[in-house]
Amino acid sequence: MLTIQYRDWIRDVPDFPKPGILFRDITPLLGNGSVYQQAIAELAERVRAWGADVIAGPEARGYVVGAPLAATLGLGFVPVRKPGKLPYTTVSVTYDLEYGQDRLEIHSDAIQKGQRVVVADDLLATGGTMSATIELVRKLGGEVVGAAFFIELKALEGRSRLGDIPIHTLVQYES
Ligand code: PRP
Ligand code: MG
Repeated sequence: MLTIQYRDWIRDVPDFPKPGILFRDITPLLGNGSVYQQAIAELAERVRAWGADVIAGPEARGYVVGAPLAATLGLGFVPVRKPGKLPYTTVSVTYDLEYGQDRLEIHSDAIQKGQRVVVADDLLATGGTMSATIELVRKLGGEVVGAAFFIELKALEGRSRLGDIPIHTLVQYES
């Protein structure tokens, strides 16, 4: 497998979505078939050792990591969604944003008690989204055995909100 510098495929966009924020844009990586394929394959090889039964990921960008990861490993994918999108009975959690609150939901029968679950998203920043996703999985009785991301923004210390769950990331930024 050729070594790809994934960082070269992530575009920095200053002042988005608001002044002072440097947005790490993964659309160049997603837009190149072989780079996207290899990113998923590399993450999948690392995740495989966790012996998951299922992968769960939060919309929207968590789907572009979690779903292909699940398919690569021959596992099911559980969508975690923003409020009001899931048609069947749901379990929800409210979590804090920089300003205000948001909510995430999961189907109440999406995970069976004792199942080993890997959670996946594109980006670990403050860890708010992923800690809410983990809480949902645990509410259903799932065991979170690992978390996988394309990108980690280390300065925001999201790891500290995930407890002792093992983490794999492809690209880490110091700030
Ligand atoms: C982004 C990103 C992660 C989250 C990371 O999602 O896709 O899910 O923020 O930040 P955190 O660690 O501070 O929670 P966003 O809420 O912007 O929505 P999207 O995935 O629908 O674009
Ligand atoms: Mg997201």
